[in-house]
Amino acid sequence: MSDTPKLTRRPEWTALADHRDQWQPHLRDLFAEDPKRAERYTVRVGDLRLDYSKHLITDETLALLQELAAATDVFGLRDAMFRGERINVTENRAVLHTALRAPRDAVVEVDGENVVPEVHQVLDKMADFAGRVRSGEWTGHTGRRIKNVVNIGIGGSDLGPAMAYEALRAFTDRALTVRFVSNVDGADLHEATRDLDAEETLFIVASKTFTTIETITNATSARDWLLGELNAGPEAVAKHFVALSTNAEKVADFGIDVANMFEFWDWVGGRYSYDSAIGLSLMIAIGPDRFREMLDGFRIVDDHFKNAPAEANAPLLLGLLGIWYGDFFDAQTHAVLPYSHYLSKFTAYLQQLDMESNGKSVQRDGEPVEWQTGPVVWGTPGTNGQHAYYQLIHQGTKLIPADFIGFANPVGELSDELKAQHDLLMANFFAQTQALAFGKSADEVRAEGVSEEQVAHRTFHGDHPTTTILATELTPSVLGQLIALYEHKVFVQGAVWNIDSFDQWGVELGKVLAKRVEPALTEGADVPGLDPSTAALVAAYRTLRK
Ligand code: F6P
Repeated sequence: MSDTPKLTRRPEWTALADHRDQWQPHLRDLFAEDPKRAERYTVRVGDLRLDYSKHLITDETLALLQELAAATDVFGLRDAMFRGERINVTENRAVLHTALRAPRDAVVEVDGENVVPEVHQVLDKMADFAGRVRSGEWTGHTGRRIKNVVNIGIGGSDLGPAMAYEALRAFTDRALTVRFVSNVDGADLHEATRDLDAEETLFIVASKTFTTIETITNATSARDWLLGELNAGPEAVAKHFVALSTNAEKVADFGIDVANMFEFWDWVGGRYSYDSAIGLSLMIAIGPDRFREMLDGFRIVDDHFKNAPAEANAPLLLGLLGIWYGDFFDAQTHAVLPYSHYLSKFTAYLQQLDMESNGKSVQRDGEPVEWQTGPVVWGTPGTNGQHAYYQLIHQGTKLIPADFIGFANPVGELSDELKAQHDLLMANFFAQTQALAFGKSADEVRAEGVSEEQVAHRTFHGDHPTTTILATELTPSVLGQLIALYEHKVFVQGAVWNIDSFDQWGVELGKVLAKRVEPALTEGADVPGLDPSTAALVAAYRTLRK
């Protein structure tokens, strides 16, 4: 048992619970009472403007939430993270994704050793390699230029670069085909390679551990495909396979020359790794300069998180608002709704970042939590969601806090005609948060001449909380800023909830069981300990399969 008082027994927590019990005002009232609310509840970070005025909060709410953050020493843990202390307690590791974007002359020590020079050594090696692929200097086994890049990885070794590649498509070399294979379903690799010329294809095997079964299986199949297509021996692998990993031994075992391995370190969590060597596919696509601009964007928010006062600290505010709804309003989910087609994979990326980090039910010392932790994160780009699930957000029975992310400018590459559609996109963006907050009263509906039996159906209660994040334009730097904002928001919540946001033991059991079940499927072997339901399903599978 630790000496730390239980979170829900802290006076700061019970004060929030009381405040929630007495909560009455509608957002309409809050705005009516304070003409400066929007201005007062807006923070600016780099190129991001965050308006959190459409939240169910008053100055008192914010003060109470800040007291909770102070009592749980969020900033103390933040400083320990930036200092390289081993705050990932269950794995006894430092948590230093922030060092991945530290400037060359910074000093960040792990066990007394400055890690920044290594970070830049790898970045330089990546830049050199990316430059050679982009220029055509790096060729395949038969001397042909590389035109296709296939990243093979899963989880943090896939979602980040895949998301960022989509987000920054307008900045990519359009002559390159870049694909991402993650699923152990053979269809993924099949579809990614079926129209590619092996002579022009580079595989990037991305795996922190280099033991992840999906990745090693896909990489092995990709190697077989390549050697079959080239009708070549294993010597061809060197020009078509590179590895991104912390595990040189396993990389060598796989047959990849460790000279073609780009390293990262155990203090980079998988879901925090796309700005490490894991971003090589992205760097090849957008070029080293753009990649560095993205790192600069991350750093803008790192510096803000480290230095901004609590009341203007954007990640802290976002984290606390999430706690307000999750723990005091029983909100189970959190929607992230980007109004940019280029951010189509943004929320999927955040799902791992947030849910693998904060999907925990024990505290850092192993004691069970007795409060809500991470929410279900979900969402897809606007305006598509408006014609699918927004109905439930507007008129359903659940409270769903949402982040709306939009841009003042469309990406530069669009034609003038398509750029003109941007105002319509953004009109929807602004209209939605307004409708969610203010709704439409029964009297307003009646005033439109709607028949009485229809009034209830057409009334919008409103009072649905949203954050609006308005950025200038979706550039590499802005993407870095957005990701760092969410990384630190997740950190804040984990700190308050007293959970280890940096381990992921919950993934292990399924992995172990899959390994145990596989022989039953392939060889019909007896698997001791299979429960009756699973045993019957396995038997049915074996009967049904051709
Ligand atoms: O899902 C569990 C996990 O360990 C993630 O945290 C990680 O991003 C993913 O698997 C892939 O791991 P690796 O990079 O070691 O292949």
